[in-house]
Amino acid sequence: MIPASVIEDLRYRCDIESVISSYVSLKRAGSNLKGLCPFHSEKTPSFTVYPETQSFYCFGCGAGGDVINFVMRTENLDYRAAIETLAKRAGITLPDDGEYQRSDGVTRTRVLQMNLEAAKFYRKMLFDDNMGAAGRRYFIDRGLSMMAIKRFGLGYSPPSGNRMLNHLTSLGFKPQEIQTAYFAGKSERGYYDYFRGRVMFPIIDVSGNVIAFGGRVLDDTKPKYLNTSDTPAFKKSRNLFALNYAKNTDAGYFILCEGYMDVIALHDAGFGMAVATLGTALTDDQARTIKKYTGKVVISYDSDEAGQKATARAIDLLEKAGLETKVLHMEGAKDPDEYIKKFGKEKFRSLIEESRSKFDYVLENTMKKYDLANDAEKIRALSEICTYIAGIHSSVERDIYSDRTAKAFSVDRKSLETDVNARIRKLSREYDKKRRGELIRITSGLADRVNPDYAKQPKAARIEESLLGILFIHPEYCMRPVDNVPLSTADFTTELGRRLFAKVAEANGHFTLGLLGEDFTPEEVSRAGGMVAARNELSDNSEAAYDTFVRSLRKETVKQGNSSDSLEDILRRKRGELS
Ligand code: UTP
Ligand code: MN
Repeated sequence: MIPASVIEDLRYRCDIESVISSYVSLKRAGSNLKGLCPFHSEKTPSFTVYPETQSFYCFGCGAGGDVINFVMRTENLDYRAAIETLAKRAGITLPDDGEYQRSDGVTRTRVLQMNLEAAKFYRKMLFDDNMGAAGRRYFIDRGLSMMAIKRFGLGYSPPSGNRMLNHLTSLGFKPQEIQTAYFAGKSERGYYDYFRGRVMFPIIDVSGNVIAFGGRVLDDTKPKYLNTSDTPAFKKSRNLFALNYAKNTDAGYFILCEGYMDVIALHDAGFGMAVATLGTALTDDQARTIKKYTGKVVISYDSDEAGQKATARAIDLLEKAGLETKVLHMEGAKDPDEYIKKFGKEKFRSLIEESRSKFDYVLENTMKKYDLANDAEKIRALSEICTYIAGIHSSVERDIYSDRTAKAFSVDRKSLETDVNARIRKLSREYDKKRRGELIRITSGLADRVNPDYAKQPKAARIEESLLGILFIHPEYCMRPVDNVPLSTADFTTELGRRLFAKVAEANGHFTLGLLGEDFTPEEVSRAGGMVAARNELSDNSEAAYDTFVRSLRKETVKQGNSSDSLEDILRRKRGELS
């Protein structure tokens, strides 16, 4: 069995949008993408891709899931083969199952101890007269101040030998633990140092623990960076580089960049509110983490195409997390680090001040994409923007944007509004039609072959599906106590619900729909995809919704059960207060 954490990693590297795009022509519709379903024949698109939850669902035929399920279905592969296909596409070699087994019982505490020792060791190496010369030279050449080097606890891993392995072993750590913490790899000839000849960037969490490292080569060899993968002390999709410092600033916003070097250059120039993701696209978890510390984010990604694409995705995630989002527009440099070196910090400060809102960004990008001197292209550009505006909920916002668009394109404001309104009506008509069909299909229950228990207690079953939809997106809620007791299989009334819940719980926070491919039928996986899709269509607070659904599910279970126990009694028994 391939562990959940490995599958999750693979899923992050195989962006659903780009994988599906090679099979289906997708068009943007608000924050989602739509296209003609590859699994049934249709004329109007009901196939929806949700980049935020990395899932897809077809409102026409009910096919759904994540990127792994998609490949299983389209290529007609089994679970293992689909994973191999994706790994190949992402350029990852999947080692034998055995190598992934992490049942060595290494604890978070042990890993944190190793990390701290390692950080001290790398720093010592950097400042060692002989050993560290190359590393120091590199940092100096890149213009880092001594203050930055000290502040970020930067270090150097020697180019040869197994110094880290020996060092940690001498401190009483076992090679296998050292490997789990990503300081050693293992080959036929035994264990060897994982980081060699790299400048080292420790990643520190908000409590000050060293949780991981990034290591950069000194030249142009690939891979440029090696990073600690997930360990018992680190989950890269949840953490951000320099958050430990940024959280203490009071600028009222964060600057989000792509790279370690960007963050360090920004901090050095006085922008201590800069943070970066750790070599992956921004995740939902990271967006929510940021929300804990600030209300506003200025995205400052690389100016290349990849950076711009990542920006579009980050905007959606940040806004969904309730953050006000602006985009910094940089010209003449590829990233913030280079920009500051070239033009200075004052210029960068004005870029922050001039950073644009999401709508400005969409407007500008669309206008750039088309030749506006050509009538047909101008109409296409306008139509794209109207569709975008139609997808916005707030009518005040729609008003402001319509106004701005009309001015930018020098067209009549009234006719633009008529266009937008027509689109709104069309969108909701299509949507209603599909949803109604879908709801009838699900709630009728009778013809429900996928979840035969549904009809027995439709109300409870409906709540279960809503709950599972949330859990598939936020698997960590599994542990969340509601009235002091976390959800358990006993709370579920349908067999499918129970099995799905057990699978989420078993994945220990690493759940993705793809995991279901292993022991659920394609129809069951699709049903799960539908639950995620239903959740994606809502924008209320998941955490609060989760609690409410758990409570209502428990109420239903009590109502159905023949026992005379009250809900309160049952909860107390679970907590161990009654026997
Ligand atoms: P960049 O290549 O933009 O990084 O990749 P950078 O920090 O600006 O590096 P310099 O300026 O060339 O030294 C952005 C981020 O993506 C991750 C790292 O976290 C990096 O900071 N990355 C990049 C990797 O994890 N592996 C790689 O091979 C490359
Ligand atoms: Mn760079």
